Amino acid sequence: MNAVDLTAVTKTYGRTRALDAVDLSFDRGVTGLLGPNGAGKTTLLRIVATSIAADRGDVRLLGRDPHGSHAELTEIRRELGYLPQELGYPGDMTAFGFVEYVAVLKEWNDRGRRHREVRRVLELVGLGDLATKRVSKLSGGQRRRVALAQALLGDPRILVLDEPTTGLDPTQRADLRRTLSALGGRCAVLLSTHQTEDVAALCERVVVLAGGTVRFDGTVTDLVATAAGRVWLCDDEPGTDALVSWRTGTGRHHVVGGTPPPGAVPTDPTLEDAYLLMLGADAHAVRAPA
Ligand SMILES: Nc1ncnc2c1ncn2[C@@H]1O[C@H](COP(=O)(O)OP(=O)(O)OP(=O)(O)O)[C@@H](O)[C@H]1O
Ligand SMILES: [Mg+2]
Repeated sequence: MNAVDLTAVTKTYGRTRALDAVDLSFDRGVTGLLGPNGAGKTTLLRIVATSIAADRGDVRLLGRDPHGSHAELTEIRRELGYLPQELGYPGDMTAFGFVEYVAVLKEWNDRGRRHREVRRVLELVGLGDLATKRVSKLSGGQRRRVALAQALLGDPRILVLDEPTTGLDPTQRADLRRTLSALGGRCAVLLSTHQTEDVAALCERVVVLAGGTVRFDGTVTDLVATAAGRVWLCDDEPGTDALVSWRTGTGRHHVVGGTPPPGAVPTDPTLEDAYLLMLGADAHAVRAPA
């Protein structure tokens, strides 16, 4: 049994098909979801977090049906941590007070154990010293970490994180990577991000979504390999058929896709290069019939 099994999951909003017959399974380990704005990442994560229901298809979480009995849903939610993309904060609560509030909802009924757990997750996200500060007085990145702390309560078996690294400074991002890779050893961590370097540094598996469908599902190494021989460095401005190019800090141009410009030297592709090429190929495919 996988922690998460999605079969032919479809979700539409009016005329927008946010997810179109998606088949995905997740078990232990960290999976990164990449995709452009509107790709369907949040929709997918909300379905896994039991915050919304799919219109069609089958969703199994820890072998249970989230839309079966109320007891089944409660069993799933006990084992689930969720960081939404946007979270309204009760500004007048302290960081400790807010995370404790969620802990109460999650049935941490013993006061002593609850307080120890709240302190533990606040320490995990580096907020031990700011626990008594009001949420409204925290910086944006600190507030984001309060939200992350509540998702970590009770070591959930399924951890759903929608853009967890947004707004974090580099030190905090590195700390978060360490925390999540440790968690990935014992639970299914599913995170979305626009930072390909987070995925490259942290995720064993990467899923690329675009237009509500899965465009790639595999290891980071396999995704990077799709860009082999298609990335160059050159001194002069490249021609117009490159998919993208930019002048780097060294003054050379990094060229992705197209034909190699004169004097270009092949260079090792990054995950970002491969991701851009994958979506660029999609854009061409969409444009072709017009
Ligand atoms: N509550 C909603 N009502 C109507 N349309 C929605 C709603 N939520 C999402 N959509 C639409 O569904 C599609 C997928 O949205 P979703 O939020 O899942 O994308 P995303 O990949 O998370 O994007 P982003 O990177 O911007 O967060 C988009 O076209 C969006 O406009
Ligand atoms: Mg989103």
